[in-house]
Amino acid sequence: MTQITLGDLLLRADKRNPAALHAQLRQQGPLCYVNDFGGTGAWVVTTYEDAIAILKDPRFIRDSHKVAPSEDGQHSIGDVASLLKLRTWRRDMGTADPPDHTRLRHLASKAFTPHMIERLRPRIQHITDELLDAVQQQGQMDLINDFAFPLPITVIGELLGIPVEDRKQFRAWTDAMLAISEESQQVAANVSAVRSFVSYIKTLLSEKRAHPGSDLTSGLVQAEENGDALDESELISTIFLLIVAGHVTTVNLIGIGMLALLEHPEQMSLLQQDPSLIPSAIEELLRYTAPVTLAAPRWAREDVVVHDKLIRKGQTVFVSLVAANTDPQQFHDPELLDITRHENQHLAFGKGIHYCLGAPLARLEGQIAFGTLLQRLPHLRLAVDPEQVTWAHSPILRNLTSLPVTF
Ligand code: HEM
Repeated sequence: MTQITLGDLLLRADKRNPAALHAQLRQQGPLCYVNDFGGTGAWVVTTYEDAIAILKDPRFIRDSHKVAPSEDGQHSIGDVASLLKLRTWRRDMGTADPPDHTRLRHLASKAFTPHMIERLRPRIQHITDELLDAVQQQGQMDLINDFAFPLPITVIGELLGIPVEDRKQFRAWTDAMLAISEESQQVAANVSAVRSFVSYIKTLLSEKRAHPGSDLTSGLVQAEENGDALDESELISTIFLLIVAGHVTTVNLIGIGMLALLEHPEQMSLLQQDPSLIPSAIEELLRYTAPVTLAAPRWAREDVVVHDKLIRKGQTVFVSLVAANTDPQQFHDPELLDITRHENQHLAFGKGIHYCLGAPLARLEGQIAFGTLLQRLPHLRLAVDPEQVTWAHSPILRNLTSLPVTF
């Protein structure tokens, strides 16, 4: 069997069907060591049970500085390690461990409770309807550009109090940031996109300080000014995380989820006949489409033995959410798309303290998006061959760049 490398997983995996490569890895064992990561390798967790155990284990941390204080200069630009290091400028809940994680998550979490999110339902429905009104007469659209992207970016933009016209820039920035490859030009584009984004957020924060509103950004700024919790760089990083995490993955749930339904017409017609299946269909699409293929890297805080293998202090561990969500020990016929599936405790939103803060919002957006698309555009069809659908290269996300449809 050919040795799978970390580069295969992060940079060269087939975005159309990532489960195949991850399943191949699972056949090698629940915990596999893959080479390529800055020359030292990384561990990959491939079973459902182990994924939960590792994501809940406080010995595997997110703040890499605690285990590798300064590696500057060790990696040439363009290698996987330095690409991943790009993210270490961040100081938000996604890259922090307790007690910082608890503090950083607490402030933002008040806006994302199921109760607060449910209050957004009429507004999300309204945005959804407006987007479809704009294309209904045309009989065709790019489902990503015209619908799957503008819906979640408008919702998170409104929550954060971002001027509507500015949201258009985010797509170019996030696309550049996420489209990581081994090409040095791509790395430069990535760095430049991050800088522009950060500079935009700094301006936004000054405006919110001068003219606070009832939005989440103003709330976080005021919390900072009351001496409670967030310093300037944590604030910038938190807004950055909320904008990016708040739309990219949902774009892909809607886009790849619709592609999956179009490729499974029997599931599509089942859902059209019985819209009460929408909630279970969304859970199945989350499991099946794997918008996030790998959880963000963790580092072992100390030596840990798992399945008789020694994970040394400082080593990197990736949890494969795709492999966990297609683990036959946990899911019956995991390769099947079954919108009526019961017992669907998938890990698409992760597990443990970093469990997706936006899960209630993503679920609500997904339910409204699919419910409305199916109801208003019952003859939705792919306008291209499924093989021609274009994907972006992004290490841990499945990212559709466009999805032409007719209706
Ligand atoms: C289909 C949509 C989504 C999927 C599949 C998804 C998936 C995930 C996953 C897997 C994680 C955990 C990563 C890890 O442990 O390494 C996560 C964390 C996070 N997500 Fe989501 N997400 C989605 C939508 C959203 C939305 C709409 C928001 C809104 C702001 C959001 C905000 C966050 C935040 C802030 C975190 C970090 C939580 C922490 O570290 O404590 N996500 N998401």
